[in-house]
Amino acid sequence: MGRHSRKATVFRTRRRRGYGLGAWRMRVIVDMPAQSLGPCRMVDLSQSNVNPTHSIIGNFRGFWAYKRNADVTTEAQAMNKPTSSNPVSRRQVLCAGLAAGASLACARTSWPAAPPSPISRAIPGTSERLPVVGLGTDKFRTDARDAIRAEISRMVELGGTVIDTAAAYGDSEAIIGDVVASLGVRDRLFLATKLTGSGSFRGGATGEASFNRSLERMRTTRIDLLQVHNLDGVDELLPILQRWKQSGRIRYLGITTSRVGQHAQMAAYMRKYPLDFIQVDYSLANRDAANAILPLAIERNTAVLVNVPFAYGSLLGQLRSRALPPWADEIDVSSWAQFLLKYVVSHPAVTCTIPGSTQVAHLEDNQGAAQGHLPDQNMRRKMEQFWDAT
Ligand SMILES: NC(=O)c1ccc[n+]([C@@H]2O[C@H](COP(=O)([O-])OP(=O)(O)OC[C@H]3O[C@@H](n4cnc5c(N)ncnc54)[C@H](OP(=O)(O)O)[C@@H]3O)[C@@H](O)[C@H]2O)c1
Repeated sequence: MGRHSRKATVFRTRRRRGYGLGAWRMRVIVDMPAQSLGPCRMVDLSQSNVNPTHSIIGNFRGFWAYKRNADVTTEAQAMNKPTSSNPVSRRQVLCAGLAAGASLACARTSWPAAPPSPISRAIPGTSERLPVVGLGTDKFRTDARDAIRAEISRMVELGGTVIDTAAAYGDSEAIIGDVVASLGVRDRLFLATKLTGSGSFRGGATGEASFNRSLERMRTTRIDLLQVHNLDGVDELLPILQRWKQSGRIRYLGITTSRVGQHAQMAAYMRKYPLDFIQVDYSLANRDAANAILPLAIERNTAVLVNVPFAYGSLLGQLRSRALPPWADEIDVSSWAQFLLKYVVSHPAVTCTIPGSTQVAHLEDNQGAAQGHLPDQNMRRKMEQFWDAT
């Protein structure tokens, strides 16, 4: 058989917005031997009566990324560097996407229906990788428990792992703990929480009392990342966190801020202590962290979580009535949320961003930013100019 006979081609025929991971009407022509894929040789989704569910959309987006030779699990891909290896075979990805369509022909195959891996970054100094888009939870409330359960379940399906919470976020830790325990997915998640030196939240626990409360509420014996919240009690708490790290109660330690006014103080702490992580505010509209904090994180080998990537949702409100620029296609962006998140995670210092969401559709949309191409330096400048002109 000739080389061309093994090629699969995806044509994006029309684009619609409003689905979580970006909705593409696709025509998929699979030019493979009939015996390889059976009745799956030609599938035209735009003509089929298959409902374009988020699953199939997600899998086809992944296939699109694969088609563009993206190694979705390596830092090279995250930085738009060329790469040749890919752990997922063409056939696996294609058939995973098709199988997700329930009634499509590939469901008869034995290939797994797992979505493609999201883009990931290594925690500096380790071989451990985190997907570049996680989940912020400061709006998690008991009355949204069902939606939160669905969100966490869906995030795990899509390959997301990072969940950021805090002792100060009302019931958030307890809801996460209950949901994670009931789903049985603790081992697949990277759980980050926070404590303060002053106990400045409802319940008021500080230091060890706060940490014990977090462990109990999150129903776990070990936290992946424990952070000093809003730089509250750094000098007092960091030696304690270092001891907990040595004894295995936490895996990584860090400090957080979400205010430009605290960046100078954060930089001073970054120089003073060997931090595994910092968490900082950074977005297309708030680029202050890129001046000093993010370069310092690279210099100090510190991982970076980015909070408030949508400026608490306000950026999405500002952009809602505008159309995406046509060049957003070049970075596989199909929503404003993905546009904003891809800007953030394409900074070389950024390990992961944690957009807050309480709706599954928002989570799926945001997870879509961990697929496909990321902006290179030129594209990042273009995005900044676009924002500055709005
Ligand atoms: N000092 C600190 O340590 C600190 C401070 C602030 C925040 N944080 C962390 O950072 C996380 C993120 O910050 P944030 O949640 O306050 O603000 P954010 O991520 O900038 O924005 C969250 C808002 O955006 C909306 N949203 C999310 N995805 C969307 C989508 N695809 N389409 C439309 N709307 C969407 C959410 O709505 P829905 O809720 O309706 O989905 C929510 O209203 C927090 O949850 C928290 O974990 C840390």
